[in-house]
Amino acid sequence: MSFDLVLFGGTGDLAWRKLLPALFQAWRHGSLPPGGRILGVARDDLSDEAYRALIASRLDAVESDKRPRNEEFEKFAQLLHYQRMDLSSPADYARLAECLRERNADTVVLYLATAPNLFTIACEQLGAAGLNTPQTRVVLEKPLGHDLASNRSINAAVRKVFDERQIFRIDHYLGKPSVQNLLALRFGNALFEPLWRRETVASVEITMAEKIGVEKRGAFYEGTGALRDMVQNHALQLLCAIAMEPPINAHADAIRDEKLKVLRSLAPWTPATLSRDVVRGQYTAGSLSGERVNGYLNEPGVAPDSRTETFVALRTEIANWRWAGVPFYIRTGKRLAAHEAHIAVNFRPAPHPIYRTPLGMANKLVIHLQPRDGLALHLFSAGNDKRGARVSDAQALAPVQLDLDFDKRFGSERVGAYERLLLDVIAGRLNLFVRADEQEAAWRWVEPIMQSWKDSDDHPRPYAAGSWGPSAASALVARDGNIWMEEC
Ligand code: BG6
Repeated sequence: MSFDLVLFGGTGDLAWRKLLPALFQAWRHGSLPPGGRILGVARDDLSDEAYRALIASRLDAVESDKRPRNEEFEKFAQLLHYQRMDLSSPADYARLAECLRERNADTVVLYLATAPNLFTIACEQLGAAGLNTPQTRVVLEKPLGHDLASNRSINAAVRKVFDERQIFRIDHYLGKPSVQNLLALRFGNALFEPLWRRETVASVEITMAEKIGVEKRGAFYEGTGALRDMVQNHALQLLCAIAMEPPINAHADAIRDEKLKVLRSLAPWTPATLSRDVVRGQYTAGSLSGERVNGYLNEPGVAPDSRTETFVALRTEIANWRWAGVPFYIRTGKRLAAHEAHIAVNFRPAPHPIYRTPLGMANKLVIHLQPRDGLALHLFSAGNDKRGARVSDAQALAPVQLDLDFDKRFGSERVGAYERLLLDVIAGRLNLFVRADEQEAAWRWVEPIMQSWKDSDDHPRPYAAGSWGPSAASALVARDGNIWMEEC
């Protein structure tokens, strides 16, 4: 099956940091279908050769250990071609259409790795140039808008030209092996499903902590913040994967229908919950891995009086039969103490304890998303019943873990998130992509939070870089008698 993959924004950060390395890995491992062409498109005036050289030098920077300039890369580079293009020029779209028609590939993927304000114009022009043929797929990178209205208007513009089945909205978290494992854990094993409900689950914690700050993206981040950057998309997608009902089959719409139901069941915000259950923070200078780092306000591109949040913690509930009353905590932030993403499903304590368990501890299933991909089931055992122990200690249980490390089990050379997603686009598999109605439901739910921050004069709560965020985040879970996982 031949394909043409057109990378709009072909010289941009996303292209050389994520997409081209992912395509190179897929090609190297023989997963990229043969007969492919990758056509980089951007404003610069470059020949194919100059484009290949540019990408090779940039890949060297991100993948020094993989020596992309070697012979293998030279071979892969033969797939790379380049076309200069001004995204507002109809003549340039006509040239692109001509170039694609000449080759007449079985599948044409149009990947818009550009600033989102270009999505609408690009789709209109692609349609006008006749590039919305049935074999075409269009890929849209997040952020898709900055609120519900802008998201709707982008989706409407794209859908004027392309059918929903041709639209692949990326949330790269869905491509992570750990997220696939989470779905496999729930729907490929009968073991946990009976326990996956309010009667047995006391609370759920979703944490996505980053050590990095805003890097060189200060100007972008200023208008975005952690809520739009991480919660509206990645965190809510994880929440859906945890909370959704078993889909009737593994087809894209069956899965997406169930995720949509979760998003629609999220407890609506009220003035009381907005002020009590949402914590926003902003990092100040601090120390990380022994190095002093700047506060957010001193990052390049950031306004000195910025109120953009770099941290969010919130508590919500899912108003349905399975989950009513169970707190779901979401926490994400930059410049936190660790690079760590996990979901902890905290079970209720034994109803009638005959043993002594460590104070405040109960069973927990932790899904580790990164940096390692694994599962840990926290149990209690009588492991301390050792020679020499006092008789009364026999009543005391010790915490133990059943630990499964997927990298060790399957090897760390597994398909990365962008690789998985790109291969799925080429194959036309929509399972790991987000439907327009899911995105809209997610925006609808976060909008009251954005509005309440806009209406308030409060600044985000400061937290020192290298900490776990403002102390109010601990207070948020402590109100329910809970603690975040690292505090256990
Ligand atoms: C992106 C955000 O979507 O996800 C970034 O825009 C963030 O700000 C990144 O750093 C985190 O992704 P990952 O895969 O490194 O956890």
